[in-house]
Amino acid sequence: MKARKIKEDIYWMGAVDWDRRLFDSLIPLPDGTSYNAYLVQGSEKTVLLDTVDPSMADVLLFQLESVKNIDYIVAHHAEQDHSGTLPHVIEKYKHAKVITTPKGRGMLIDHLDIPEEKFITVDDGETLSIGNKTLEFIHTPWVHWPETMVTYLQEDYILFTCDFFGSHLATSDLYVTDEARVYEAAKRYYAEIMMPFRVIIKKNLEKIKDHKIDFIAPSHGPIYDKPKFIIDAYSDWVSDIPKNVAVLPYISMHGSTKKMVEYLVSALAAKGVTVYQFDLATTDIGKLAITLVDAATIVIGTPTVHVGPHPNVVYAAYLANALRPKLKFASIIGSYGWGGKVVEQIAGLIPNLKVEILDPVLCKGLPREADFKALDKLATTIAEKHKEL
Ligand code: FEO
Repeated sequence: MKARKIKEDIYWMGAVDWDRRLFDSLIPLPDGTSYNAYLVQGSEKTVLLDTVDPSMADVLLFQLESVKNIDYIVAHHAEQDHSGTLPHVIEKYKHAKVITTPKGRGMLIDHLDIPEEKFITVDDGETLSIGNKTLEFIHTPWVHWPETMVTYLQEDYILFTCDFFGSHLATSDLYVTDEARVYEAAKRYYAEIMMPFRVIIKKNLEKIKDHKIDFIAPSHGPIYDKPKFIIDAYSDWVSDIPKNVAVLPYISMHGSTKKMVEYLVSALAAKGVTVYQFDLATTDIGKLAITLVDAATIVIGTPTVHVGPHPNVVYAAYLANALRPKLKFASIIGSYGWGGKVVEQIAGLIPNLKVEILDPVLCKGLPREADFKALDKLATTIAEKHKEL
């Protein structure tokens, strides 16, 4: 794709990665992604904001063929999907300096071997005039690495945010055209990448709230020309109070645990709780992460394999623990053959979740009347707890 004009002397550059289906060898990308870079031509200096994933370096270098000079390259974030083409750009524009945070400098040296003399580091709030335009650098740590910052283009009211507010979405649209689709993609992105840093992100939202913003230009997904949409969404996602939502990830080997899960889902729904059920044998783990953004309760369904939980359940519990959602309650249900320690083992996997453990329901073999009564009781407890949120 060719460079695209946003405003006079401001261009989208970058690469749309329609076919990528996995990020960090972990995160599913059902809709691909993009690596957005931006070119700002001031009356005196020219700036490139971020680069692209090195796998698509040729796309950016093609777009830069007609750009004679670049004075500065802003590296908002050292992760290679944005910084990985820096060595090529530095090679092409030999006098260009790399602007980043002090922590960013160290990380770019570590990851890309960029020579020390190439860097200019900027403090939080520092500005740089490029003639008729002014760049303001705002440190926004932990979106989602410790070195991250954003750039505010003062005269044009554009906030360049790199990963912050981004969405893994390959699209030919320069701006958001389908808010529902972008909302889902941005929430998935937040859930998988940003959620562990929810408390710090709240502070970062505070830092930008007094800036007049006409456009948010992230480095993944389309540009927000109505930025209130995504700022409001983030404000909701980072809030401390979960919603009346229960998530039931489960595995069932011979159907008994599934019977329990389906019974509990039905009982919860009848009591007005919004429920999401996920079979961990087949689910898109990103969908599970999205529901954890708002959920108040997680109930993990697992059969006992030897003496512990099913390995897929171990993976999901480990992931939920790493994502640090704002869950308040957790429980465990499932079937066993002769005994085991699934409750202790799963509880040991989720120390980051500051949850109250509700009475688990475990049954030997098929669930029977007493087990269904226990599930009814669990559903009642969850519904009552949710009323007090
Ligand atoms: Fe899009 Fe953290 O890199």
